[in-house]
Amino acid sequence: MPFDTIIRNGTVVTASDTFRCDVGIRDGRIAAMAESLTDAPEIIDASGLYVMPGGIDSHVHIAQPSGDGIVMADDFASGTLSAAFGGNTTIMPFCLQEKGMTLREALKVYHAKADGECYVDVSFHIIVSDPTSYVLGQELPALVEDGYTSIKVFMTYENLRLRDDEILATLDSARTSGALVMVHCENEDAIRFLIGRHEANGELAPKYHATSRPVAAEREATHRALSLAEIVDTPIVIVHVSNREAMEEIQRARGRGSKVAGETCPQYLMLTADDLDATELEGAKFVCSPPPRDRESQIACWEGLQNGTFDLFSSDHCPFRYDDDTGKLNEKGKRNFRWIPNGIPGVETRLPILFSEGVAKGRIDLNRFVALSSTNHAKLYGLYPRKGTIAIGSDADIALWDPNKSVVITNDILHHGADYTPYEGLEVTGWPVRVMVRGKTVTDGDERVAAKGAGNYLERGRSSLK
Ligand code: URP
Ligand code: ZN
Ligand code: ZN
Repeated sequence: MPFDTIIRNGTVVTASDTFRCDVGIRDGRIAAMAESLTDAPEIIDASGLYVMPGGIDSHVHIAQPSGDGIVMADDFASGTLSAAFGGNTTIMPFCLQEKGMTLREALKVYHAKADGECYVDVSFHIIVSDPTSYVLGQELPALVEDGYTSIKVFMTYENLRLRDDEILATLDSARTSGALVMVHCENEDAIRFLIGRHEANGELAPKYHATSRPVAAEREATHRALSLAEIVDTPIVIVHVSNREAMEEIQRARGRGSKVAGETCPQYLMLTADDLDATELEGAKFVCSPPPRDRESQIACWEGLQNGTFDLFSSDHCPFRYDDDTGKLNEKGKRNFRWIPNGIPGVETRLPILFSEGVAKGRIDLNRFVALSSTNHAKLYGLYPRKGTIAIGSDADIALWDPNKSVVITNDILHHGADYTPYEGLEVTGWPVRVMVRGKTVTDGDERVAAKGAGNYLERGRSSLK
């Protein structure tokens, strides 16, 4: 038999083209694409469906330590299963270097958490929180050679933020070693000041999370990150951009010739700061950083997805349980917003939201959907063309989408470990009805088909942004 599986009668969509053809899969890879293919033990009829590259979610937090008694709601099994049901075939979670640890020590911890647990392929970005000369001079260059080709640095969070001199040293090392640097841009000192002022005024409800992290704090840090990157001539990704002013910083930096990629997330299209002002403590469900802004910011983010300011649409999945002492409503969090863990779940809803609000509502076309949800992630993070497209020789990482399937998102239908979704009750049109990783079906309709461990760890090459 020439093929293990043939996907027949579907419409293939890539970042550049949409066309009718059959797809033949052999040994986990796409072996043929033709008008009509025959001869395989498994024939999948994709009539009426789009055959798309599986989603790549390059911004996901799983099982990351988050402070005293706080526990993320997903481990690698639930997080990757949820990802698969949401149309993804690869996710890139963060591996956190805690202060005092080497990067290799951190990686050992995360590999132990992930190995044998995953339903989709995974690859780690390393969060550098302790950029010692050993980390930057010895470890990072060696790790890039070993396929760990991206890192994240933070300009906020007391225990994670780097000073400007540390950011410069990290960027400089990344340039010489070939690592791509993701930057979380918010001004920690300004935020500390505003939190202190809210506390002094007795303003402790979840809504003050948003006012303590204003647009100006994000815009200033975005400008600073771009300036520091320019000084040492290093490409960067500005992650989870929430508003127009930060977008304009990216546009201006590109105008000066800087190599910069931009990312936004569903929460900046679908939520606003008003969601944090819900009754009782419900607002805690929407606490994430940067916080959701206003309607105008949502419009700006859509423009950014359309006009190329954003290359990436990621979830920033960072799940905590709501009604739980280990999550949003921990004892201290109930009393003061500053102790509510930052982050919201979204790995399973990212693509249905972008498809429904973007493609079905005519804001973006199918090819842009694929670019934003898969291809650009593969290119920027060194996986292309093995991942992120439907082409001969690429891994058969495929999501079959029913563009007409209507689904009301409720937490009951999702597979993450959180006890809520920020998108409860949202009706979407378009849903991933079957997901295959390297030619093997992981989910089919509501059913999990693959066993735990079906997902592999991926070593990656260098970024296309150089
Ligand atoms: O609130 C958020 N975004 N939590 C996740 C950590 C991060 O900064 O990406
Ligand atoms: Zn971040
Ligand atoms: Zn994040």
